[in-house]
Amino acid sequence: PRVLRVALLGGGTVGSQVARILLDDAEALAARAGARLELVGIAVRNVDAPRDVELPRELYTTDAESLVASADLVIELMGGIEPARTHIIAALRRGASVVTGNKALLAQDGATLFDEADAHGAELNFEAAVAGAIPIIRPIRESLSGDRITRVLGIVNGTTNFILDAMDTTGAQFEDVLAEAQRLGYAEADPTADVEGLDAAAKAAILASLAFHTRVTLEDVRCEGITGVTASDIAAAQDAGMTIKLLAIAELVPAGAAGDGVSVRVHPTLLPAKHPLAAVRGAYNAVFVEAENAGALMFYGAGAGGAPTASAIMGDVVTTARRIIAGSPGRAGTTRTLPIVGLESVTTSYS
Ligand code: NDP
Ligand code: HSE
Repeated sequence: PRVLRVALLGGGTVGSQVARILLDDAEALAARAGARLELVGIAVRNVDAPRDVELPRELYTTDAESLVASADLVIELMGGIEPARTHIIAALRRGASVVTGNKALLAQDGATLFDEADAHGAELNFEAAVAGAIPIIRPIRESLSGDRITRVLGIVNGTTNFILDAMDTTGAQFEDVLAEAQRLGYAEADPTADVEGLDAAAKAAILASLAFHTRVTLEDVRCEGITGVTASDIAAAQDAGMTIKLLAIAELVPAGAAGDGVSVRVHPTLLPAKHPLAAVRGAYNAVFVEAENAGALMFYGAGAGGAPTASAIMGDVVTTARRIIAGSPGRAGTTRTLPIVGLESVTTSYS
């Protein structure tokens, strides 16, 4: 069978699980992908760091550049903007396809990366970038591409849901639960991105871009995190039969005579205790998609963590490998430009 050389950039919470799956399930993956997926190396900062998953020592390297230069398919799980951006662009310019879970980078500079992919006949896939294990990117990008999506709304950050849920149900302290979320591998390397809502905002920008075929970046998202939510806010919500959840909301709104606009925002929201999103516990996520013909759809599952996120990465890896083997990596798709509208133009009810 054909062999595809796979370079893994990052061997942390998610990368280590991806490496484990690539090595342990090699035979099944080869059958599904139509090619043997050979893990040629794992780029890390410190090759001697203790790791939760035991992998052959010789796979680790600090030379990400050489790994990228030798790969047919690059999996980027370093996180952050640089050097991830430089390595992804280098891979795409060689015509190598890339799978990434890096929502921060996609929300900041996705357009550059997709243009590079298109220009070099490569693919850039990112199912893991939004809502961990939940298939949400492909349904919006492909399954619903013949419909008109009008709203995407949901819980897209596992860390903050884990924190709010623990504060709500056990009265736990914010800092203690955040430390537990970090230990469990849910939080970003800098958890400020989670608790200040920026991670959810990046995901909201990605979802809005795909749902409305436009370009929305992190800067376009109005964002408030959960650091201002106190134990007394939660108690007051409970007394009123409500729950506080951090929601990401992307809506198509009539922006006036010129046509549609989009509103994208992230903020703590009071939900009636009976609302389906109020029942989303721990680090789970749930996303509602509303489309003109499909009606309302709900996607639910593990939103963070090593193995769940690795599942989404591996789905992209197998799909991308199949297309490389078939010689037809796909294009990112065309976009239009919609105005970003302010909150005064939107009405969202949560009943
Ligand atoms: P970690 O911090 O656990 O792992 C990052 C890995 O990248 C580490 O192995 C680190 O090396 C390596 N790395 C970082 N910077 C460099 C560099 N400059 N050069 C070489 N190696 C580098 O992150 P996660 O695995 O949690 O997340 C990875 C990506 O996946 C991020 O983009 C994140 O947003 C995304 N993601 C994470 C989810 C989760 O639940 N954790 C869910 C969905 C997406 P070393 O080990 O030596 O420090
Ligand atoms: N830090 C992110 C979260 C990881 O808690 O949801 C998954 O994207």
